[in-house]
Parts: sequence; structure tokens; C-alpha cells
Amino acid sequence: MEGALTARDRVGIQDFVLLDSYTSESAFLDNLRKRFRENLIYTYIGTLLVSVNPYKDLEIYTPKQMEIYMGVNFFELPPHLYALADNAYRTMLTEYNNHFILISGESGAGKTEASKKILQYYAVTCPCTEQLQTVRDRLLLSNPVLEAFGNAKTLRNDNSSRFGKYMDIQFDFKGAAVGGHILSYLLEKSRVVHQNHGERNFHIFYQLVEGGEEELLRWLGLERNCQHYSYLVQGECAKVSSINDKSNWRTVRKALSVIDFNENDIEHLFGIIASVLHLGNIQYDADNKGSAVIGNNAEVRWISKLLGVSVLVLQEALTHRKIETRAEEVLSPLNVDQAYYARDALAKAIYGRTFTWLVNKINESLANQDPSRKTVIGLLDIYGFEVFYINSFEQFCINYCNEKLQQLFIQLTLKSEQEEYETEGIEWEPVQYFNNKIICDLVEEKYRGIISVLDEECLRLGGATDLTFLEKLEETVGNHPHFVTHKLANQKTRKTLERGDFRLLHYAGEVTYCVIGFLDKNNDLLYRNIKEVMCKSRNLIVKQCFMPSELDSRKRPETVATQFKSSLVGLIKILTAKEPSYVRCLKPNDGKQAGRFDDVLVRHQVKYLGLMEHLRVRRAGFAYRRRYEIFLQRYKSLCPDTWPHWRGPPAEGIERLVKYIGYKPDEYKLGRTKIFIRYPRTLFATEDAFQICKNELATKIQAKYKGYRVKGEYHKQKQAAIKIETCFRGVLARRNRKKREWAVITIKKFIKGFMYRNQPLCDENAEYLNFVRYNYLTRLREHLPKHVLDKTWLKPPAVMETTSEMLRKICYRTMVRRYVRGVSAPRKAQLQLKVVTSAIFKGKKEGYPQTVPKPFIDTRLSEQEINMKVLQMIRNERIKYGTPVVKYDRNGYKPRPRQLVLTQGAAYMVEEAKIKQRVEYATLKGVSVSSLSDGVFVIHVPCEENKQKGDVILQCDHVFETVTKLCVLANKQNSVKVVQGSMKFTIQPGKEGIIDFSTGQEPMVYKAKNGHLMVVSPRTKSR
Ligand SMILES: Nc1ncnc2c1ncn2[C@@H]1O[C@H](COP(=O)(O)OP(=O)(O)O)[C@@H](O)[C@H]1O
Ligand SMILES: [Mg+2]
Repeated sequence: MEGALTARDRVGIQDFVLLDSYTSESAFLDNLRKRFRENLIYTYIGTLLVSVNPYKDLEIYTPKQMEIYMGVNFFELPPHLYALADNAYRTMLTEYNNHFILISGESGAGKTEASKKILQYYAVTCPCTEQLQTVRDRLLLSNPVLEAFGNAKTLRNDNSSRFGKYMDIQFDFKGAAVGGHILSYLLEKSRVVHQNHGERNFHIFYQLVEGGEEELLRWLGLERNCQHYSYLVQGECAKVSSINDKSNWRTVRKALSVIDFNENDIEHLFGIIASVLHLGNIQYDADNKGSAVIGNNAEVRWISKLLGVSVLVLQEALTHRKIETRAEEVLSPLNVDQAYYARDALAKAIYGRTFTWLVNKINESLANQDPSRKTVIGLLDIYGFEVFYINSFEQFCINYCNEKLQQLFIQLTLKSEQEEYETEGIEWEPVQYFNNKIICDLVEEKYRGIISVLDEECLRLGGATDLTFLEKLEETVGNHPHFVTHKLANQKTRKTLERGDFRLLHYAGEVTYCVIGFLDKNNDLLYRNIKEVMCKSRNLIVKQCFMPSELDSRKRPETVATQFKSSLVGLIKILTAKEPSYVRCLKPNDGKQAGRFDDVLVRHQVKYLGLMEHLRVRRAGFAYRRRYEIFLQRYKSLCPDTWPHWRGPPAEGIERLVKYIGYKPDEYKLGRTKIFIRYPRTLFATEDAFQICKNELATKIQAKYKGYRVKGEYHKQKQAAIKIETCFRGVLARRNRKKREWAVITIKKFIKGFMYRNQPLCDENAEYLNFVRYNYLTRLREHLPKHVLDKTWLKPPAVMETTSEMLRKICYRTMVRRYVRGVSAPRKAQLQLKVVTSAIFKGKKEGYPQTVPKPFIDTRLSEQEINMKVLQMIRNERIKYGTPVVKYDRNGYKPRPRQLVLTQGAAYMVEEAKIKQRVEYATLKGVSVSSLSDGVFVIHVPCEENKQKGDVILQCDHVFETVTKLCVLANKQNSVKVVQGSMKFTIQPGKEGIIDFSTGQEPMVYKAKNGHLMVVSPRTKSR
């Protein structure tokens, strides 16, 4: 898209410097025309911009376009006003200097439009803060206000600037627009009271009448009809299709409030505008003495209301003139012509002065409050060279102004350029050009210039008229080659001149001026009594415009031409102190028509604007030059020899620098104090390299600085860490020391306590003993016996012996109680039996300990094992215990298997179905057992009883169990005897046997040779 755009823009040649036949005016024109046909209105001559008015809206001023041109090198994009504006702006920022953009061209060529476009470009593209928003708005909105009051439709231009305007935009170092200042030059006041055919008064009058609110108009005494006002209808074109007064009125009203006008200001301002219209409608009649009288004083009453002056005084001032003689002041009535003159003079004066007030007021609102240094870009949009059918004093001034600006342009481009090459010693072939200094001199030279002659005539008392002025001119400058009059002209020329004309051969062409009105306009006189009235006005603006001090001064005010001349000198001074950029505006045709390219007209402009000469100088010359120091300062970073400092002579530094960057010999030249670069591309390449290098340097500096910052931070942190560490170590050490101190004291106390441990309780041992107690008790808790039979007990220290013993007892008691509580009833019975067993056998009979853990069995014979008959026989007794036994006969000791059955009341010896013997417990004498491990026991029965046969010798496997059960049932615990060696027993009454007990390998029971019963039992390991 953009490529297509640029391709389209490459129609013809974008820069005339690249034109092959650069000396040919036709080639120049061809290129201009070719581009114009494609709506490419801008073309460069080097850095100068040529613009051709398209007379139609082109889509090349959009914000997007602005963005494209922002910060881009001048020649990289198609020619544009924005490129020029941006270039000036960037240079201003980088070189920190002031600039101006000179926009020139004849009336209607597009100067004002160009200056507005540049202003808009800055407003949109410059950095802007919220604070600066107001400044920006004011800069932009000052334009419509000034245009309303200072522009008018002329034959040449529907929006022709009728004043010169130089506007400074002030930028801060960041490039933000922070303020502005406007200088205005010579407003064409005569337009207020008179307009040529096809022309209008200043826009504001029409805007007010067409757009003003009903209420406002009523208050101002105006009607909504321009035709009613004689000051608005002389050109007979109050309404123009290209101008929308109504909407412009709204813009102006809005703008006024933005640029700080309060309601009072606005009221007074429009009061004045309305007053001018009322003034224009005042009609005079002649009374019988020929003196002027106002026919209808309604207008006067309105003026008196709006300006705040008395009706009568005003009326008098408008019809009389005060003549001061040495002795007195006399009021002399004016005739009708004089009265009209006075009226118009007043209208021009109040309008002109109000315009000046307006500019000042705008300046106040644009003023930058910040006193820090600013750089500025000045925009000069001044009325262009103008030729009408009848040209008067105003055209003379305007064209003189254009001569001066052309002179400045020549000075800055052609002349100084060539002079510079010469002084710098650069080889050069001079280019011929037309220097218009001769015309400037003709106009402004002291004593001999046209202005001097005019002033002289104005000052001359008695008889000076416009025509005498013409005569004086012929006398003084009559033989000047650029001056001619009817009288001086040759036959042919004379035909084109009137008697009251003089003709100047301006740089831009011939202009014939009609001298009528020159003296008046130059004098710009306002009758003193009118001034006096105005001084008393209650309208605040009028009051500020007419200061009483003016009345006191007896000195004649400077003439208009002289004032103008000095203001131009001032302007030139302002401009020469700045770096210039040029926009040359061309008018393609005289009909304000789009798309029509009038060759003759354009060729003429190209010629008088000196564009061909400018091109030739550009072509032969160098696009860029800078003093060595400045160039070196800017680009020194591109060469290691010159960076960061070059101490030698700058020229040498430059030589090294350009050699290092690689400039080719034809690309540059070194002068005496400056370097000259032929092609912009060379400079741009250098600038690009510099920008890259700058970024690199900035990165380097940034990195260094960041490193430095971080290092500093790191040191600080480290320092802090060390400090914290130290403090903490101190804290730890102190804590440690305290602990040690405490430990020493504690240990000391401990030792002392240990030494005193056996003493009665005293201070020294109290703590120690407590510790010992505590320690013992805590240890004891860990080492308590686990069960009743566990007899271990922690050995107590001396102080705890009693306690320990008590504790031990309690502990065991508790364990025993717990144990006992846990014992079941059968087990209890079992244990009780065991206790009996223990009482009988413990320590007496071998094999006892082995039986302790073995529980006793309820019975060793079940009822099924006992014969039914036996059971029948003893059915009244409950069987408590039964066991198989071996019975040894009392005689012969024959072993016989039997069953021993114990009931509640007796013990039965049973053989199968027979009860062989019944021993009642009550009669039981005792039971004997051996001390050895045999199972033999003897039940002793009383032998006296016949029923009984004698003691019963029995053997069973569970002797402890059986004997215990027997004696418990018989309640004969104390009758059990454990005998050693041998025992006696009763065989029958009076006859005893003996049983011998011994130990041997095998258990045996037999009848020994001695007739004793021998019971051998194996030796058991006694416990
Ligand atoms: N760049 C442009 N684009 C479109 N129209 C333009 C342009 N420049 C000028 N014009 C037209 O030409 C008219 C006169 O331009 P202006 O700037 O007022 O002339 P100058 O100030 O030189 O007398 C404008 O009112 C506008 O209609
Ligand atoms: Mg203009």
C-alpha cells in the first residue's frame, strides 16, 4: 500500500536537483506540471519546498500522513510540507537552535494554508502533556480568530490575509510546544470603509451579522442582513458560496473562549464591531451653511451605547473639528465630505487598534510562564505580492514587504551561499541572479527613497497633495531604472499609464500605483476631538486602545510607511538570527480553479521567485555545511580517534573522522572553517550511523550506570549483612556466656550439693538433693517392675532410701492387688489348693517345684470311666475327684490297679465294680509320702476298726495333686507327713511293714530281700 503510494509520488522528479536539464526553464515547468496533474503539489529544490496550490482538498494531511513523516530523514519520503516542518523541528532539537519557516508566494498561492498545516503538524506530532493541551489548543485556535478579524475575500483569494503574521512557536528541551507569540504587520484598515468590486470587508462583520445569536444582535442593534450596512456592500458580494459565515462564527465564538476571552471581553469586542457597522450607516446632510449634520441619529445612539460615550459629545465629534490656536481651542464645523472622512477615519482607527489589542490578548494567552530557555520555530505568513487593477498605498506596502523578503531569501541562499564558498576557499563558478536590492533601495533609501519622499510631503505644511508627491518622486527617483511615470515614460509605455500613476518594476513584475490617497493613508490622521471622545469610552477595549497619554504628546506620530519600514527591519533582524527553511508557494491559475495549470502564470512566478537560480546554486553547491567544531562535536563518536575527545585542531579531527567513516572525495570538501557535504544522502548515512552509535553509547552508559548502581546496592547490602551478622554473633556469644555462667554456677552448686549430700537439709544441698530426688523419681518411673514376680527395683540414692522402700511396697501392693483382682474363681480355688500343696510339700519332697506351674485337674476319671455299679453305690455322695492308682498289697506288695475315688465324705478304693475299701475322712489318721520323687503315698487308717484292713499303700502319677485333694477334702492338711528314708505302716492291727525309699537309675517298686517294700525313684535335680 505504502509502496504504491510512494511509487505514485515518483511521478516526474521529486527533487529538481536531480533534473538533467537543470538550466532549462521548460524542463522545470514540465516536471512541475506533470506532478501537478497527478495531484503531487510538492517538489523539492534541495531543502526548499515548492508548493503549487491545488485549489482542492487532497488526502495528504491526515494524521496517518503526519505519522509517516515523523522523525524520518528529509529525503527518504516523497516531498511534503510535513517533511520540511519535521526537519526544522528535529534540527532544532538536536542542535538546540532557533528556526523559521519562510512561506512566500503571491496572494492566493497557499501561504496561509501551508502555515496552518505546519502548525497542525506540530500540534499533533509534538509530545504533549495534559498541561500543555491548553497551549496546543490556543495555538491552533488563535488562527480562526485572527483570520476572522484580519482576513477578507479579495479578487485573488477568498480568504486573503490582510495583515502580516509572524508566529513563534516555543518548544521546551523535550520538544513540547509550550507557548507562542504573534507579531502582526500592517493591517489593511482601509478595507473597513471601502472594498473594491468583488471584494469583501473583514470576515468578522459578515460572521456576526449572519451567525450572531438573535439576542446578541438585538443587544448590538443589528439586523440580520448584510445589505443594510453600507460598509459591507460596496464590493457587491456579501454572500460568497465558498465562505460559510455562520459556521465560521461558531468556530470563532468557541475559539474566543478557549483563548481566555471572558464574557466581558466578548461583549466589548462585538460592541466595537457593531459600532463600526453603525458608523458606516451614519448619513450626513448639509445645512444651509454647508456644514454637515447627521440626518438620523439612531446610529449615533447605538454607537454611544456600545462604546459608552455620550450621544451629544459623539455627535459633535463626528461633525466638528477642534482647531487649536495658541490662545484657545475653537470648534469648527466640518463640511459633508470632511465629516464622512472623519467618520471613516474613526471606523478604521477603532477597528485597527482593536485588531492590535486582539493580537496582544492572544499573546497573553499563549505566553509561556516558564522562564527556562526555549527554542522557537517561527512561521512567517505574510501577504503575498499583489497586483490589482488599481493599486494603492496598501499594495505599495505589501509589495515592498515582499521585496524585502525576497532580498532576505537572496541574502540567505544565493548571495551568502556563494560568498561562503568564496570565503571558505571552495572552488566555485558564480551563478548569476537578479538581486532586487536595487528595488528595495528605491523604496526605502533614506532621503532619496519613495518612503522618504512621501513622508516629506506628508510633513510639508501647506499645499502638499498626492500629485505634488508624484512630482517630488519624479524629481528624486525619476531616473531610476525601476521607476516610471506618465511623464517620464516613452510613447509606448505612456499609453498604459494615467497621469496620477507611478509604476515600479518589482522583482515579481510591474505594478502601477495610483497616488490618490497616499498622503492620507500614510498620515492616518484621526481628529483630535474624536480621539478625546474615545479616551473617555466606557468600553474597556476602546479605553485600552486610546490612551490619554496619546493626547498629551505633541510629537507627530510616525507615518504609516515609516512605521511599516521599521517593523520590517525588525522582522528581518528576527529572521536572520534563525536557521531558515523555505516554502515557495505557486499559484497555478488566476481563477482559483482546481486542475488548471497556466503555463504563463507559473513560468512567471518561477522566474521572479528565483527558483531557477536557486536550483543552479544548489546543483553546483553542497547540500550541507557545518562549522568544523559543530560537526565534530556531533559526530565525533563515530571515530575512535575523535572519541570521546579530540584535542587537536578541529580541521584535523574532521579529516580523520571523514576518512574513518569513508567519505569519497567527491562527496565532501573541507573549507577554511567548515565542512561541505555535497549530497544529502551522505549526511543522512552519517546521521543514521550516529543514531545507532548514540544508542549503543547510551546502552553502554546505561549498563555502566546500572552496574554502578547495583554494585553500590550490593555493597550496602553486604555491609548490612556483616553488621547484622556481627550483631547476631554478639547476641549469640552473650547468650552463650550467660549459659556458661549459669552452667558454672549450677555445676558449682551441684558439686557443693554433692559434697553436702549426706548432711541434713541445708542451703547448700537443698537443690542438689531435690535434683537427686527428681532424677531418681523420673528414672524410677522408667524402670518400675513390670509384673508381680519381677523383683528388680532401682537402687535409690541415700536420701531416697525410705521413700524408695515405701514406693516399692506401694508398687508391689498395687500390682498384687491388681493381680489378685484379675484372678478368676476357679483359678483362685486352684491357687488355694496349690497353697495347701506348698504348705505340705515345699522344701520337703523332691519334684515339688516342678509341679508348681502345672495346674491341678478337677478329676482324672470321668464318670464314664467309673463302673456304673460303683456309681450306684455311692450315688448319695458327690464324687469330687477320681484317679487311677496302683495299690500294693500289704502282704507281698503285689501291685494292683485300682481307682481312687474321693467323695464329700470318704475315699473309695475301687476295683472294677467293687468297692474294695472305704475310708471315711473322719477316721483318716493321716497320709504319708516320701521325700523323694516317687509317687507312693500311704493312707493311714485306724486299725482298731475291724472293718479296716490296714494302711493303704498307693502309687499314682500325680501324687501332689491327689494327696492335696485328699487332705483338703478330709480337712487333714496337718496330718500329711513327708518322711525321709523309710516309713512304717500298719499291715493289720499290731503288725507293721516298712517301706524304704531310695534313689536309683530307674524307678522301681519291689519287695526287697529284707521284706521291705523298696521304692526307687530317679534323682531329680533339686532346685
Ligand atoms: N494545500 C492546499 N490544499 C487545498 N487547497 C489549498 C491549499 N493551499 C491553498 N488552498 C486553497 O487556496 C486558497 C488560498 O490559499 P491561502 O493560503 O489563503 O493563500 P495565501 O495565504 O497565499 O494568500 C485557500 O483558501 C484554499 O482554498
Ligand atoms: Mg494568506
